[in-house]
Amino acid sequence: DWTAGNVVAEQVAAVRAQVGDARVICGLSGGVDSAVAAALVQRAVGDQLTCVFVDHGLLRRGEAEQVEKDFVAATGVRLVVVDAREQFLGALAGVTDPETKRKIIGREFIRSFEAAARDLVAESGASGEEVRFLVQGTLYPDVVESGGGEGAANIKSHHNVGGLPDDLQFELVEPLRTLFKDEVRAVGLELGLPEGIVWRQPFPGPGLGIRIIGEVTAERLEVLRAADAIARQELTLAGLDRTIWQCPVVLLADVRSVGVQGDGRTYGHPVVLRPVSSEDAMTADWTRVPYDVLARISSRITNEVREVNRVVLDVTSKPPGTIEWE
Ligand code: XMP
Repeated sequence: DWTAGNVVAEQVAAVRAQVGDARVICGLSGGVDSAVAAALVQRAVGDQLTCVFVDHGLLRRGEAEQVEKDFVAATGVRLVVVDAREQFLGALAGVTDPETKRKIIGREFIRSFEAAARDLVAESGASGEEVRFLVQGTLYPDVVESGGGEGAANIKSHHNVGGLPDDLQFELVEPLRTLFKDEVRAVGLELGLPEGIVWRQPFPGPGLGIRIIGEVTAERLEVLRAADAIARQELTLAGLDRTIWQCPVVLLADVRSVGVQGDGRTYGHPVVLRPVSSEDAMTADWTRVPYDVLARISSRITNEVREVNRVVLDVTSKPPGTIEWE
């Protein structure tokens, strides 16, 4: 029988068997998957686990603070925060191809985990034991869409699957690898995680890096963060958080169009709203967000974000469009 309780019991036993008494780190992204994976591994091996939060500079507004506060408060887990903003931006400079971006981000995540693991060992002095295992919150759909499932094509390399470097130093622990998102949420509740974490909308590990069409720069990230914060705030106020699976906001950084804002002509960038409804992210439909909510988002973004002079709505289902634009 599939019950969340059974999954927890099985996976706790499996993690203990795999890990023994070795040290383990887990990358936290702020999302549901890594939070549930971390809580499961903590249940299995307690203090052998240290969580690592890599601030890659591709996060939305307020996200770094949220992870530090909410997750630690809920679990009491040991957390190390790595400021890797310059490292990631540097590695992404000049890159526009989506798969290349994904591979670079996957690689830099691993480099950050390796550096964090070395620091941890150094901190614990002469007796310091190396960190052998890395926990990842990989789900079944990530595996399938990265080309790992039976007969599946490589649609895109999820940062934690197809984006891993060949010379990986860690053995992976992936307790959610057979699960779908709704099952992960049930497991999270079973483990006692708060609803605020369990019901968080999905956000991809590569973050805003795959929502800027074109090169990723610090300035473009600021523009997108501002537009995204407005969209999220208005959708939440409208009570749509559970109706909408997620709503990427995408900056078309290489596209410009003519507008008129205030008294003058502008030549700014469009952002795309991509609200979708879905069960498991394998397929999705575009969400029929009420017009008045769309109108508020559009008028606020074009008034409050100087660089954006046009807001457009993506009305494509998946397939043929994927949820993210890259
Ligand atoms: P797509 O764009 O493939 O997205 O329709 C399906 C779901 O997966 C999320 N996504 C990712 N999540 N690492 C992640 O952790 C990734 O590299 C990644 N790429 C896409 C996406 O936000 C959606 O929920």
